[in-house]
Amino acid sequence: MERKKSWIFWWLMPFVSYDMLYQNCVLGQDSCWTKCNISFPISRNQTECCMNFTDNVLNTGSLNETLRAIWTLQRVLEGTEVNGSMQLYVKTFVALLRKPNDTFRGLEIYANDTQVTPYVPLLNSKVSVQLPRELGAGPNNTIVFCMFKWPETKKRVFESPHEVYDQRLVGLSVQGKKISGLQERINITMEFTKCIKETQKPSCQFFNYSTYNFSEDGCVTHWTHGQTNITCSCNHLTYFGILIIPDPSITKKDQEILTHITVIGCSISLFTLVIAILLFITNRKLKQDVSMKVHINLVIALILLNLHFLPNQAVAAGSSSGLCLYMALLLHYSLLATFSWMALEGFHLYLLLVKVFNIYVKKYLLKLSMVGWGVPAMIVSVVVIIDRQFYGLTPLDTSNSCNTEICYITNYYVKMWTTAGLLSLVCLFNVIMFGVTVRQVLILHHTREFGQNNLDKVKKDISTLAGVMTLLGITWGLVFFSFGPLITSVLYLFCILNSLQGFFIFLWFVMSLRKAKTSATKMSSETRSTNS
Ligand SMILES: *[C@@H]1O[C@H](CO)[C@@H](O)[C@H](O)[C@H]1NC(C)=O
Ligand SMILES: *[C@@H]1O[C@H](CO)[C@@H](O)[C@H](O)[C@H]1NC(C)=O
Ligand SMILES: *[C@@H]1O[C@H](CO)[C@@H](O)[C@H](O)[C@H]1NC(C)=O
Ligand SMILES: *[C@@H]1O[C@H](CO)[C@@H](O)[C@H](O)[C@H]1NC(C)=O
Ligand SMILES: *[C@@H]1O[C@H](CO)[C@@H](O)[C@H](O)[C@H]1NC(C)=O
Ligand SMILES: *[C@@H]1O[C@H](CO)[C@@H](O)[C@H](O)[C@H]1NC(C)=O
Ligand SMILES: *[C@@H]1O[C@H](CO)[C@@H](O)[C@H](O)[C@H]1NC(C)=O
Ligand SMILES: *[C@@H]1O[C@H](CO)[C@@H](O)[C@H](O)[C@H]1NC(C)=O
Ligand SMILES: *[C@@H]1O[C@H](CO)[C@@H](O)[C@H](O)[C@H]1NC(C)=O
Ligand SMILES: *[C@@H]1O[C@H](CO)[C@@H](O)[C@H](O)[C@H]1NC(C)=O
Ligand SMILES: *[C@@H]1O[C@H](CO)[C@@H](O)[C@H](O)[C@H]1NC(C)=O
Ligand SMILES: *[C@@H]1O[C@H](CO)[C@@H](O)[C@H](O)[C@H]1NC(C)=O
Repeated sequence: MERKKSWIFWWLMPFVSYDMLYQNCVLGQDSCWTKCNISFPISRNQTECCMNFTDNVLNTGSLNETLRAIWTLQRVLEGTEVNGSMQLYVKTFVALLRKPNDTFRGLEIYANDTQVTPYVPLLNSKVSVQLPRELGAGPNNTIVFCMFKWPETKKRVFESPHEVYDQRLVGLSVQGKKISGLQERINITMEFTKCIKETQKPSCQFFNYSTYNFSEDGCVTHWTHGQTNITCSCNHLTYFGILIIPDPSITKKDQEILTHITVIGCSISLFTLVIAILLFITNRKLKQDVSMKVHINLVIALILLNLHFLPNQAVAAGSSSGLCLYMALLLHYSLLATFSWMALEGFHLYLLLVKVFNIYVKKYLLKLSMVGWGVPAMIVSVVVIIDRQFYGLTPLDTSNSCNTEICYITNYYVKMWTTAGLLSLVCLFNVIMFGVTVRQVLILHHTREFGQNNLDKVKKDISTLAGVMTLLGITWGLVFFSFGPLITSVLYLFCILNSLQGFFIFLWFVMSLRKAKTSATKMSSETRSTNS
């Protein structure tokens, strides 16, 4: 009989007075109350006991028990005897009770995971609250702030279909007052600690105990992408959470189109590069040309790069960490190989022209290959040996660790030194090589002992190579070192440039093929000079 009465009571709770709660606490059957021996006013020890109890319910109780416990805890906090100010820390619960002086002038509360204070910002502050003067609280109205984290083991907070930001809930209430319809709103600001995907946005919502559902009514969310905090402005008090809901302004369709375009861009690039390889294999003349052999190595490096970039997002979304490690490793390796072959292209051009008459390098291509494929392998090995954790799941855009994740280098410094740093070196090296080569072309142009045909070929080679390098640098630099937020337009640009780059290299091959056919004899002398 008593038990049943108590049950009915719990369901009516949002509407009953504090007195009734007190009576039930004393008379009721709930374990918290019998164990803690509650009497009014509630002492600090009893409140702490109740917080402990609520934490247990949170972890082990059913949803209805949890809702009940949280609501009751808030009432117990309101009824706790307090002089001025009181802070309570029990398990994940952090609470501040404050009895205002005669004239309430508003209140600011700051809380981190372990502490809460009025007015003074804390280290690693996670939540700050501004309460307006309009609350009109007096010495009889304890203001209660209570914050806790929903257990990770229970994914869905209050059965909400949406994720609750940081699993964090903030409760606010004033003893003996039902606060609603405020003119000056209360502000609850949460620091940005976890990422919000581009297709999602935060929504400040409160838990309406009469509908047993989250609701947005009376709350405004202030947040834009890139902002470091989320502010909720609400005109009433209760339990608040920030739900992560789908952002209707970026539709799923946009995302799908983008994914398709990435796939198409990389596929075109791959396709044209493979055609270039086939041209090389099937054409005997091309196969004998040393320059072509150097080009084909760059093409192979690019194919590897595309092959490991194309499925990377899918692998990252999957759960296999072994596969992700492989992907990250090979992606880094093929990117480095692309860089090294870019540098070797520059070196080869230089050698071809500047040292053409007096240099014969033994096993030239083997030596180039050792550098082109060996140096990247060495760098990757060193990184792996230092720490395997340097490879793994990481956000594509480091400035706003939110959107797409890929399998790549996880450490910022390793990434910057081994990619951006190396790319700068390669660019510098190639600029010097180009400079020297161009100077030599100008000199040869005057002496005319080199032959007009060869001169034209070298000129073309210089401009083509410069084009290819620029394209390469921009295309892959865009994705792998993107400093700013990786917005949609950048991805579009990447897709276009990437498909263009494969096509450009393909054209380069076709042009070389035609040239090889027309001026095969004239070229043979220079080819022989560097051939192994
Ligand atoms: C509860 O309080 C009463 C008096 O206030 C005391 O006699 C009783 O022993 C207490 N029970 C427990 C379990 O502490
Ligand atoms: C509160 O608990 C502490 C130890 O847990 C005890 O020393 C103290 O007497 C208690 N105070 C009250 C008012 O029960
Ligand atoms: C909290 O609850 C647990 C389990 O009910 C109990 O073992 C522990 O002593 C309690 N701690 C406090 C501070 O009341
Ligand atoms: C929890 O409360 C809801 C809403 O009142 C009710 O529909 C549901 O049956 C309750 N669940 C349990 C397990 O008591
Ligand atoms: C509150 O203040 C009164 C008088 O200043 C004092 O008697 C009482 O012990 C205080 N209570 C607490 C919980 O500090
Ligand atoms: C109330 O006023 C007294 C003296 O003016 C001050 O010491 C105390 O901190 C004030 N308490 C609050 C809660 O503002
Ligand atoms: C919370 O703030 C206090 C005071 O600034 C600080 O000592 C404590 O380390 C902070 N807690 C966390 C988890 O950062
Ligand atoms: C909350 O923020 C709004 C502006 O966003 C401001 O007008 C209002 O005064 C703030 N409320 C408090 C209590 O400071
Ligand atoms: C506070 O409560 C006491 C007793 O309940 C009452 O006498 C007093 O007038 C109240 N003060 C205010 C400002 O409401
Ligand atoms: C909670 O929901 C009920 C029923 O829809 C509604 O009447 C009430 O105003 C809501 N509470 C708040 C604070 O909006
Ligand atoms: C809770 O509200 C959401 C919309 O905010 C609605 O889709 C859902 O059906 C509601 N759930 C219940 C149990 O009323
Ligand atoms: C929120 O972040 C903005 C900048 O992003 C800053 O200007 C503002 O002061 C922050 N607000 C709080 C309450 O920390």
